[in-house]
Amino acid sequence: MLTRRQQFTLFLIVTSFILLLYNTRGSEVIERAYSPWRSYPPSRLTGNFPLLQEKSQQIPILETTLSGNLAPVTGFTMFDRLYVKNGTIFVVSSIPAVFPDPKLILARPLDVGHGDSVDPTPKELQVVTPEQAKFMLDNRATVIGGMSFILYDTAQFMGHYYHWWGELILGAMRVYSSLALVPEIETPLPTPARFLLPNIMNHDWRDPAGVNGPLMRAAFPEASIERMDLWEDIIDLNSTFVFERAMIVSRPAAHRHPLASVWYKMISSTMNATVPPFFWEPLRKRLITNTIGYVPVLNNAGVVVSPPNSLAPVVTYVSRQNHGRSLLPSDHEKLVEALRGLEEEGICVVNVVAMETMTFTDQIETAARSTIMLGIHGNGLTHQLWMPSGPRSTVIEIYFPKAYAHDYEILARNMGHKHYAVWNDTTLTYPAGQWYHGVEWGNRTDFNGFSIPVHGPTVAAVIRERLTEPLP
Ligand SMILES: *[C@@H]1O[C@H](CO)[C@@H](O)[C@H](O)[C@H]1NC(C)=O
Ligand SMILES: *[C@@H]1O[C@H](CO)[C@@H](O)[C@H](O)[C@H]1NC(C)=O
Ligand SMILES: *[C@@H]1O[C@H](CO)[C@@H](O)[C@H](O)[C@H]1NC(C)=O
Ligand SMILES: *[C@@H]1O[C@H](CO)[C@@H](O)[C@H](O)[C@H]1NC(C)=O
Ligand SMILES: *[C@@H]1O[C@H](CO)[C@@H](O)[C@H](O)[C@H]1NC(C)=O
Repeated sequence: MLTRRQQFTLFLIVTSFILLLYNTRGSEVIERAYSPWRSYPPSRLTGNFPLLQEKSQQIPILETTLSGNLAPVTGFTMFDRLYVKNGTIFVVSSIPAVFPDPKLILARPLDVGHGDSVDPTPKELQVVTPEQAKFMLDNRATVIGGMSFILYDTAQFMGHYYHWWGELILGAMRVYSSLALVPEIETPLPTPARFLLPNIMNHDWRDPAGVNGPLMRAAFPEASIERMDLWEDIIDLNSTFVFERAMIVSRPAAHRHPLASVWYKMISSTMNATVPPFFWEPLRKRLITNTIGYVPVLNNAGVVVSPPNSLAPVVTYVSRQNHGRSLLPSDHEKLVEALRGLEEEGICVVNVVAMETMTFTDQIETAARSTIMLGIHGNGLTHQLWMPSGPRSTVIEIYFPKAYAHDYEILARNMGHKHYAVWNDTTLTYPAGQWYHGVEWGNRTDFNGFSIPVHGPTVAAVIRERLTEPLP
């Protein structure tokens, strides 16, 4: 045991030590405040530290393969080691027969329907043997790493929300996700590194509503979007580049698939690809988080259970009454009345929205909270891409009676939403594996007109059934 005096001495020694330490630290802090930048150790100043790795990005010319050895999807062909030189894409293979006919991969970059053949020429794509490659390519190629999507189309259809998101991106992501089923391939798959638009010179891929661009940044913040100038730079450099993995997406090529004459949509061929059941969900969540800051959580009944909660499932009627193709004004009013009736009964919460008047964030948030989306055939229904899939999720599409097109129905199939077509007081819906045969535009003036009839109570009855039928 220490005596009291010894204890006191020990106390003094410890206290002085602490004070000394504190003072020293204090003066260091003050000194630093007057010289804020760090100083470098002399060894670093004399050593040789390169800015970048000196390692070459080049590899010898190796053979191209179909990614994952998966059956190619017409118009959405995915390759490992795809070469490009002087503006031409090269597939290098000692067994060229493994690859589809170039016509099923891409097309000449011409607008469709302007008379000239869109059949590809050797300027766009060549399938060559390694022997031929020795003469046509350099003996080494510069690697463009990661996953590249080459959207090899003209601007004809790109600058449109549905055609961009509902066809090019949805189709490409669907086919890309099929790689996740290949046992040797690591998951999650790498996020896309870049989207290349070799035939787009200006901003024509952007849609008039200004949705395509911002949503691409929200979904793929790390990806670059490069237009024709990348292709031109590679041409000017006069050397060979190789994409580590790339998908060539081509609308005219995709339309050559037999299923394209069933649904008349470019993503028809992708419907025959085997894909994981919730392939779209990670992308949907990224896009929504990066747009509104959170992802609404819905229960199986469709109620939003994350704050701000909803009292009942949310039904969103995308109104086009002030924007082209529209309902008979009196039918629009009666439809809203019928929806309000359901709301009063507590079956749902109803939003009647004109998307074109809403902020970007509000549009995405509204879709992400909805269980049912309804409206006239049109671009607004593309927002179903952000609606969560669930046992009650539904898209109700109103057409001029007897008209039918598969655009938003094929989206609904991809998303796992049940789709209904409405012809005034008649509804049509098809289970998995069945569909409406053909495409019917009827009289185009009526189809796109301002007097599309709809029987409000018929629509309300579909909603009531979907929201009250027993859950499976
Ligand atoms: C590069 O492409 C241009 C335009 O298609 C063509 O005229 C030229 O002959 C090509 N050059 C080489 C070296 O293949
Ligand atoms: C491009 O490179 C090839 C050899 O790969 C050469 O024959 C040709 O002259 C070069 N062209 C230009 C314009 O530099
Ligand atoms: C659908 O895919 C299977 C398996 O890859 C293939 O055998 C079949 O030919 C494809 N059908 C069509 C119509 O492309
Ligand atoms: C729409 O359906 C309602 C209810 O059956 C009917 O009264 C009305 O005449 C129909 N409208 C048209 C244009 O067919
Ligand atoms: C299409 O419908 C409009 C108005 O409903 C009508 O004036 C026109 O004659 C119709 N056209 C044809 C080809 O039937």
